[in-house]
Amino acid sequence: MIMQMRVDKTLSQLQIATRSESKKLFAAGRVKINDEIIKNGSVKFNPERDLLSVDGEAVVYREFQYFMLNKPAGCITATEDKKERTVMDFLPRERHRNLSPVGRLDKDTEGLLLITDDGALNHELLAPGKHVEKEYFARVSGKVTEEVTKRFAEGLEIGEKRPTAPAGLELRGTDGETVSEVLVTITEGKFHQIKRMFHAVGMEVLYLKRVRMGSLILDEDLEPGAYRLLTEEEINKLKTDSGKTEL
Ligand code: URA
Repeated sequence: MIMQMRVDKTLSQLQIATRSESKKLFAAGRVKINDEIIKNGSVKFNPERDLLSVDGEAVVYREFQYFMLNKPAGCITATEDKKERTVMDFLPRERHRNLSPVGRLDKDTEGLLLITDDGALNHELLAPGKHVEKEYFARVSGKVTEEVTKRFAEGLEIGEKRPTAPAGLELRGTDGETVSEVLVTITEGKFHQIKRMFHAVGMEVLYLKRVRMGSLILDEDLEPGAYRLLTEEEINKLKTDSGKTEL
């Protein structure tokens, strides 16, 4: 299929320049398709065949959008809601079309949320058979002992048909008795899973933040509520995680 894209729309979709910024780029002769200077944003090009460049730098066109959001506490993981603030409220409105979050974080959970319009990747990353790891930093009540770690590794009864799949639990810090800080790694995504797992061992989650999904690591430079686009490398690695290797 031959795809024709408007130059100004492409630059704004890729967050290279807003429509008004791109007018200045065109006027200054800084945008080219192949070797031709483009003076008008309505010109169309075929991203599979033509090379779009700004200041001599190739613009890599992507069919899909991939955002990493550092989800703050206090918003829900949904595309819209009549009452509550959603994770979409943190992304530019003009980019919302067809975007959805990959998996769900509770309202009070913070951290890594991938938001994309690549429905196939979204599906693959969540498919139970793929066992894509999700890693969380958690602050929990009480003392995480070796016994607790063993029970996480063996699988816990949390009221589902089957016990949870083996989960990693690594102690990162403790005040001795009342609070422990841990990294938890799970390969499933059951409702409130981590909170229910700690409940099953008589403990309570006080704070929860997702720090990794497969190979995708939360960018610590992102303040809660901030987002950035994924790099080409991050997208390719995620596709490998989900069993797909092509861009
Ligand atoms: N487990 C939970 O309990 N909550 C989340 O938000 C994610 C995993």
